Amino acid sequence: MKQSALQTPPPGFSGEIVRWQSTHGRNSLPWQNTRDPYRVWLSEIMLQQTQVATVLDYYARFLDRFPTVAELAAASEDEVLGLWSGLGYYSRARNLHRCAKDVVALHGGQFPGTAEQLQTLPGIGRSTAAAIASFCFGERVAILDGNVKRVLTRVLAFSADLAQSANEKALWNLATELLPKRNLPDTMPRYTQGLMDLGASICAGRQPQCLLCPVQKLCRGFAEGDPGKYPVKTRKLKRSAQGLSLLWAQRPDGSVWLERRPGRGVWGGLYCLPVFESDDELKAVLPPALQSRLAPLPQFVHVLTHKDLYLSPWVAGLGAGQALPKAMVSEERPGAWFGPSAWPALGLPAPIRKLLAQVA
Ligand code: ADE
Repeated sequence: MKQSALQTPPPGFSGEIVRWQSTHGRNSLPWQNTRDPYRVWLSEIMLQQTQVATVLDYYARFLDRFPTVAELAAASEDEVLGLWSGLGYYSRARNLHRCAKDVVALHGGQFPGTAEQLQTLPGIGRSTAAAIASFCFGERVAILDGNVKRVLTRVLAFSADLAQSANEKALWNLATELLPKRNLPDTMPRYTQGLMDLGASICAGRQPQCLLCPVQKLCRGFAEGDPGKYPVKTRKLKRSAQGLSLLWAQRPDGSVWLERRPGRGVWGGLYCLPVFESDDELKAVLPPALQSRLAPLPQFVHVLTHKDLYLSPWVAGLGAGQALPKAMVSEERPGAWFGPSAWPALGLPAPIRKLLAQVA
């Protein structure tokens, strides 16, 4: 059958999702049972690329330190990045902070009340705006994150290539047609959560559990016999590899030299051991007296979304009164010494934190 013949949504879909969510979905997560946009927004940003189990602790710590959006807006970026440390994708944390500031400065400390307005804020894309507006305001707007794309393309047997934006747009339109039409303040939050829950459990990427699915009878992908072939997306992420050398300069009192990374690029805005493109470049900045104190630690790999980082750490134990070379203490490379009780609170990339904790 041609794709165009399938572009009518199956009747009864939203009702089944709402019913299933009440009995089988997740209903007691800490960001549920509230319509406070601050709490819901915070959870949605954390959950964008991170699993629920990991988010739970971070969410509690953030709310404990920043009970309101005004308190988050008033914090320093360093503190926000420090609390975020380990959650990854740090542009989320920087946008989180910017968004809090905008809510205070431009919206009188209240999150705007529609998905359209929410989308104008930093870090809030179309799907996140819809999640917040449907949970908090019962607005009739569709979410379409990765999990939900999988659910809907299977239910609709939507075989068009999502790498093409026209097809993605068509799926957004279908997602909107599928939304509940009645009793929106109750049905929209349940429906939105239900799609998320179904996508995170039964309608899994590999080996979907179709026998347990509340919409199996409506699912055209199931009827065809191979729901796992959806979604169709041709473009593959191009991965690259990069080698980086790290200088771990340590003073006799145990303090380490950490630099603030530039805002853009790998680990933007975080504190880090000084990074060099190669071992040779690292050695070249050190005077002979320090070069002779250099000792290599085992190389390790850190996997980012688009690239594999091959990290080569070098330890340089400085003698009492021995200084770092001038080339390393400049405005371009803003850095400072941090003692063993100070560096754990900084926003550090997870692999650097692990490295320091292992040997420090
Ligand atoms: N992933 C994104 N939003 C979520 C939510 N509200 N509950 C569970 N998982 C999610």
